[in-house]
Amino acid sequence: MKENYIVCNCKQVSYKDIADALEGHSKLEDVIGLFREVQAITHCSTGCGGCHDKVLDVISEIMMA
Ligand code: FES
Repeated sequence: MKENYIVCNCKQVSYKDIADALEGHSKLEDVIGLFREVQAITHCSTGCGGCHDKVLDVISEIMMA
């Protein structure tokens, strides 16, 4: 497991928070759908929105691991 770090500064959402929100999802089929789910659970990317691409990258990384 990678080192934990903050992905969304506005909402203080960490890599691990995103990984936890993705728990139970086994396939990277719909990254936007997964993003919405992660967002609903963690509230990441609901502040400045600057972390949007970072969150998508983290989701892809986790789902492809
Ligand atoms: S850093 Fe995530 S919404 Fe601002």
